[in-house]
Amino acid sequence: METSSAQKRVTELQTLLNQYNYEYHILDKPSVPDAEYDQLLRELIELEEQYPEFRTPDSPTQRVGGEVLSMFEKVEHRTPMLSLGNAFNESDLRDFDRKIRQAVGDKFSYVCELKIDGLAVSLRYEDGLFVQGATRGDGTIGEDITANLKTIKSIPLRLKKPYSMEVRGEAFMPKKSFEKLNSVKEEKGEEPFANPRNAAAGSLRQLDPKIAASRNLDVYLYGVADTGGTGVQSHSEGLDLLDELGFKTNKERKKCETIEEVLLYVEGWVEKRPNLPYDIDGIVIKVNSLAQQEELGMTAKSPRWAIAYKFPAEEVVTILKDIELSVGRTGVVTPTAILVPVRVAGTTVSRASLHNEDLIREKDLKIGDHVVVKKAGDIIPEVVNVLLERRTGEEQNFKMPTHCPECESELVRLEDEVALRCINPTCPAQIREGLIHFVSRNAMNIDGLGEKVISQLFQEKLIEKVSDLYKLTSEQLLGLERMGEKSVQNLLSAIEASKVNSLEKLLFGLGIRHVGAKAAKTLAQHFGTIDGLMDASYEELIGINEIGDKMADSIVTYFDQPEVKELISELKSFQVSMEYKGPKPVTVENSDSFFAGKTIVLTGKLEQLSRTEAKEKIEALGGNVAGSVSKKTHLVIAGEDAGSKLTKAQDLGIEIWDEDRLVEELEK
Ligand code: IVH
Repeated sequence: METSSAQKRVTELQTLLNQYNYEYHILDKPSVPDAEYDQLLRELIELEEQYPEFRTPDSPTQRVGGEVLSMFEKVEHRTPMLSLGNAFNESDLRDFDRKIRQAVGDKFSYVCELKIDGLAVSLRYEDGLFVQGATRGDGTIGEDITANLKTIKSIPLRLKKPYSMEVRGEAFMPKKSFEKLNSVKEEKGEEPFANPRNAAAGSLRQLDPKIAASRNLDVYLYGVADTGGTGVQSHSEGLDLLDELGFKTNKERKKCETIEEVLLYVEGWVEKRPNLPYDIDGIVIKVNSLAQQEELGMTAKSPRWAIAYKFPAEEVVTILKDIELSVGRTGVVTPTAILVPVRVAGTTVSRASLHNEDLIREKDLKIGDHVVVKKAGDIIPEVVNVLLERRTGEEQNFKMPTHCPECESELVRLEDEVALRCINPTCPAQIREGLIHFVSRNAMNIDGLGEKVISQLFQEKLIEKVSDLYKLTSEQLLGLERMGEKSVQNLLSAIEASKVNSLEKLLFGLGIRHVGAKAAKTLAQHFGTIDGLMDASYEELIGINEIGDKMADSIVTYFDQPEVKELISELKSFQVSMEYKGPKPVTVENSDSFFAGKTIVLTGKLEQLSRTEAKEKIEALGGNVAGSVSKKTHLVIAGEDAGSKLTKAQDLGIEIWDEDRLVEELEK
């Protein structure tokens, strides 16, 4: 083909495919069969490979996901990405309406929109070309996820008019794509995502854009960041402009003239919500006129002209089929409700932890009961209560066993504990759970060794203690169910890679009672090597900030056991690292910051910083952020509505600062 006709064909194909893409993903009205689209795309890919000079940044070939990134660059938002105040009931909404009327009078209207449950994104266009996409981050600085966003087919790579503008919206994963993704993950023995929001966020946080491309993400745009120069006078005109330019906006929006209309809209969506093909977690209500929005202005964190009504956690009714018992790593026997599978807050729930016997009694649960189920924090399934009026008399009482369901030794209830425990150290369930813990993410982080593989290896007696993992051979692994050459190779490499982990991962993985991930890090930083820790006395241990007497006692007892000594020397013989490799902790000696070496507790609501930010900043300066106030606390930062921690700090005479003082010190 001649160069000039190749150029013509490339442009023709790009335009045509962009048009088909728009019809399919934005208008939801495909005009050609998928096969034809695919064939034209293949033709374009080949031509662009032959003539790379004709490849444009808005070519549909740019959506497949290019190079793998090494990190996400930071992006400063030109207009901050705000968050919204919340309303949880009718009275909150009426308060919101009253305040607006007080400020702007009675002549105004609202636009109500679905609050899409995904993650906020900002898209920047220059002369109509999509140049940068970012996450919200802290509202001022987000991360550049352009490459991942380009793979979302409903994001136009070129606008219908050559505008330079920044637009805001919500990226999300439709329910169907989420279910498909999770079933593939489960088949591969991988941990499924808890909900579509996490799946969308996880996909957009991948450094390899091909992964995002395979995840069927979608987006709804809900606002223009800066309307200057667009001639737009109201929010609804802004949305119409977005439509005109080729963006995807949500069509369920509604202009409402009164709060009564708003309440009807909200009520309607409480009912219709489960039928949507994507998750929503509320309704956003916005004053329509931009002039009135400006008049209303902002509070410290959010605009006064908009509010998010949050739906109550979805509750559904199902049947308690059975109560199953499992023995954890520490021997605690936990009852789990086995439910008739039911969809709630985006996923199918068939199990919910019942925690302990007392809870079963408190809730008066019987097998066969109709129960109300919800997801706490929209993630963890929970049995809320029993519907006593639906009892038939056929329901069966449940009784906790007296003996371990795995090893049959007698269960005990330790002093001050509600839980029943199996105290047999050779109980196979505890050993298996200990192995699962050892390979888990915060511990040795051995990819590909999920619960299923560990259980198989344990059942086949290929591993009985953690050091056995380092003896596994490819022949042994190939003998397991659903283990091909490739997965065996990957698994062996992951096991090998875990040998160079920093000490805290091993310490946490060993599962010493009372030693969580944070304490493991403190111990690793303090002692540097496992030998240092093994030689430490109880007195030396309690001298360390954050290490209490229970933990110190447990560490000394643990390392005193001959079988533990043997395990450590075996691990050493496999070259498993016993050294701390992280940054040296900042201490009073090597930092001149006020925070160095001090224990600080954050309490109440912070306005200028998020909790995580404040914690990270304090830690970077050598401070240690603790969860509770004790005599060892040096300083308490009390935000708005601080409660019992503040009172305790006052009682103990601990220094107390407000947030402004914290920010001032951090900025020094
Ligand atoms: S408006 C200043 N509209 O909800 C107003 N937000 O805190 C900015 N969200 O993470 C937000 N759907 O990404 C708006 N139709 C919608 C929305 C929406 C979802 C998200 C938004 C942000 C959170 C608000």
